[in-house]
Amino acid sequence: MAILLLLFALPFILSSPLLSSASDSLTKGSSLSVDKANDVLISRSNTFVAGFFPVGDNAYCFAIWFDEPFCNKNCTVVWMANRDQPVNGKHSELSLLKSGNLILKDAGRVTVWATDTVSESSVQLYLQDSGNLVLQSLEGDLLWQSFDFPTDTLLPLQPLSKDRKLVSSRSQSNYSSGFYKLYFDTDNVLHLLYAGPDFSSIYWPDPEVSIFDSGRTTYNNSRIAHFDPLGNFSSSDKFFFKSADYGANLQRRFTMDSDGNIRLYSREDKGGKWTVSWQAISQPCKIHGICGPNSLCNYVPSSGRKCSCLQGFKTKDVNDWSLGCEPEFNLSCSTTEITFLRLTHADFYGYDNRFYRNYTLDMCKNACSKRCDCKGFQFKFIKPGYPNNNPYCFVKILLLNGYRSQNFEGDIYLKVPKASHFYSQPMEESRTLDCSGEIAKLLNRVYTKSQENETLKYMLWFASIIGAIEFIGIFLVWCLLIRIHQNSGAVEQDYVQAATGFRKFTYAELEKATRGFSEEIGRGAGGIVYKGVLSDHRVAAVKRLINEANQGDAQFRAEVSVIGKLNHMNLIEMWGYCAERNHRLLVCKYIEHRSLAENLSSNSLDWEKRFNIALGTAKGLCYLHEECLEWVLHCDVKPQNILLDCDYQPKVSDFGLSHPLKRDSHGISRLSRIRGTRGYIAPEWVLSLPITSKVDVYSYGMVLLEMITGKSPTADIEDKRLVTWVKEKIKAATAIVDPKLEGNYDKTQMKILVQVALDCVNEDKDARPTMRRVVEMLLQNEMNHFCLV
Ligand SMILES: *[C@@H]1O[C@H](CO)[C@@H](O)[C@H](O)[C@H]1NC(C)=O
Ligand SMILES: *[C@@H]1O[C@H](CO)[C@@H](O)[C@H](O)[C@H]1NC(C)=O
Ligand SMILES: *[C@@H]1O[C@H](CO)[C@@H](O)[C@H](O)[C@H]1NC(C)=O
Ligand SMILES: *[C@@H]1O[C@H](CO)[C@@H](O)[C@H](O)[C@H]1NC(C)=O
Ligand SMILES: *[C@@H]1O[C@H](CO)[C@@H](O)[C@H](O)[C@H]1NC(C)=O
Ligand SMILES: *[C@@H]1O[C@H](CO)[C@@H](O)[C@H](O)[C@H]1NC(C)=O
Repeated sequence: MAILLLLFALPFILSSPLLSSASDSLTKGSSLSVDKANDVLISRSNTFVAGFFPVGDNAYCFAIWFDEPFCNKNCTVVWMANRDQPVNGKHSELSLLKSGNLILKDAGRVTVWATDTVSESSVQLYLQDSGNLVLQSLEGDLLWQSFDFPTDTLLPLQPLSKDRKLVSSRSQSNYSSGFYKLYFDTDNVLHLLYAGPDFSSIYWPDPEVSIFDSGRTTYNNSRIAHFDPLGNFSSSDKFFFKSADYGANLQRRFTMDSDGNIRLYSREDKGGKWTVSWQAISQPCKIHGICGPNSLCNYVPSSGRKCSCLQGFKTKDVNDWSLGCEPEFNLSCSTTEITFLRLTHADFYGYDNRFYRNYTLDMCKNACSKRCDCKGFQFKFIKPGYPNNNPYCFVKILLLNGYRSQNFEGDIYLKVPKASHFYSQPMEESRTLDCSGEIAKLLNRVYTKSQENETLKYMLWFASIIGAIEFIGIFLVWCLLIRIHQNSGAVEQDYVQAATGFRKFTYAELEKATRGFSEEIGRGAGGIVYKGVLSDHRVAAVKRLINEANQGDAQFRAEVSVIGKLNHMNLIEMWGYCAERNHRLLVCKYIEHRSLAENLSSNSLDWEKRFNIALGTAKGLCYLHEECLEWVLHCDVKPQNILLDCDYQPKVSDFGLSHPLKRDSHGISRLSRIRGTRGYIAPEWVLSLPITSKVDVYSYGMVLLEMITGKSPTADIEDKRLVTWVKEKIKAATAIVDPKLEGNYDKTQMKILVQVALDCVNEDKDARPTMRRVVEMLLQNEMNHFCLV
């Protein structure tokens, strides 16, 4: 028994002096060794650790990371001394020399890193609770600090100054310098830059918008940025933001991520999960250099970014997407042997050899054909809405930074050989490669082993025995701690980590925000909507779901995680959710301008606004249906669920209730009970046919008819259904147009809209167009009309 007790006690007796040896400072003449796991500096309140961090097989970097129990190789590193030159896992040392120089020596005895400081007096290296590693004299003179040399992360109050850059890691698991940089350029503006091996370009702020239109200034040359502990970021070029969780007392970090986005992260305490409380770029495909030449980036909220080769191109190296794709054909210089392939809603940023204003499609084709080095061209109408909306033609000599999105209004015409089978295949069938995959290569570091002598062997044996005993002790403590950790960690798991700070709210928080659910602003089948003001002063609409309480917690969370990732200008902005006990709530942005239904009845919509709303709504639904792999159906499209912002831009709301379809091979699913509103509901529901995205198309068609005629489909007109009435009137050539418009409308647009509406409300679901097709039909018209955004 005594032996057993001793066995338990021994590890503690042995390890306690070792643990206490970890202090927050290092004095002159002493060093930290890679061989001793306890040779680390720990800041006074245990927030940060500085020491040797494993970055690969037998490769270590001297780093600072957040002190977390059991983070092992997965700790949150905030700074590294030698990220591009890791040292050997044996005999490497960080030493504070008598001269005052702090040096990092590799086992090969090479100095890989040094602060190059000199001091006669006594100096110490401290790790402060802010995460700053400082070298200072006892009198307090600062010789060197890690805050002056950021790697990819800023901590609260750490400045990003002139001549400093945040450089991303190569990947999530490879800490060496990557291709993305945040820095102040010579124009005094904070920029994001992709600097790849072959190409480089700035992608933030949006290069297609002028610096001043992005809200920045070039006039302040102090070039400094930082953020405070409450989450307020400010930069001398007038770039400011406040984090989504501004004000709360949280751990925060601002990191240039390896995917090219810059994000502010926060979390409640050590060991918790980091959540994104701000990010620079909401459309990941706008980040340059993701897919390499000749490929298109496509963003799918549920699965992330994907690259795909253009038709007729194949991947250069399936293991390295940044190399892009190469053509499978040889392009002739002769104009008679080439043709052009249209890719809708596609853009390749940069590398325009020339651009021509007011060129017709034929003129543009001609301009590209004549040049041997032209790879294709972009054809688009700049700034729709301008009085002289002339088409522009951009002749491309390289196809880089490609992306495709329904939001982008412009087409690419690809130059391809005429007699070729390549481009007859549809785009979707071309090879895709997954950008999210990482290529982790092992570091190959060879060192000659020194001869071991007998004493060393003996010491090793002794150390192993002690180590084994200690291991048992630590293991027991670990088990204990894990249990504690798991209990507290359960709550953290609830965070849905998504873009734009979509987060979980507590019920108490929402109760306070809505002042006890006092101000009702709407009511629908799914629940009641209340107005509220969040703690960060944002005005929100909080929807309290009824009927959903008996829905499983996991199911609700799964759905909410889909909703949280949706992000489109024609969908209402979702901010978060709450799932506590049997409460189920969704939180979204409050929209001032009321719904389409109210605006229609109050006669505030002229023709231009109506057409715009039709187009925007179609784009929002198209995004729901097609850009999400999970196929979110709305199931209740009606004028009450289309909100209008201050510019009369439509925002489709209330898609929170729709169930993402588990797509089978035909994209068909069966939902058990009827959803939707009488008058707008598709016949499939009543006939118990399979439910597809075409139910939304039907409802959308009814909304169009209502916008055209000003008559609601919920009531019969002259004892007929609205659709029948419209069809009969058209046959009889009687005007169907809303008398409130007083004849002020565009005849061509009206014709298209009526046609689209009637196609959409076809009884046969297969005869209805997809939402994508609807957007195309409405846009085909835009070529002749420049009144649209
Ligand atoms: C490391 O952390 C990331 C993100 O938190 C997680 O996805 C990954 O599984 C973790 N890896 C290990 C080995 O724990
Ligand atoms: C955020 O920082 C800026 C610049 O330092 C300052 O002007 C602003 O008042 C701060 N905002 C808050 C809410 O503290
Ligand atoms: C320039 O920016 C710095 C830091 O944000 C600020 O303190 C200073 O007042 C600014 N100077 C001018 C002239 O606006
Ligand atoms: C393209 O030309 C090269 C050399 O001229 C030839 O080797 C290659 O086979 C050609 N490729 C195709 C697809 O015709
Ligand atoms: C654009 O071209 C059309 C026809 O070619 C011409 O009528 C029009 O004046 C041109 N507009 C401008 C701004 O050059
Ligand atoms: C990290 O990436 C760099 C650059 O590609 C490479 O040289 C290094 O071997 C990689 N390190 C690891 C651990 O994979």
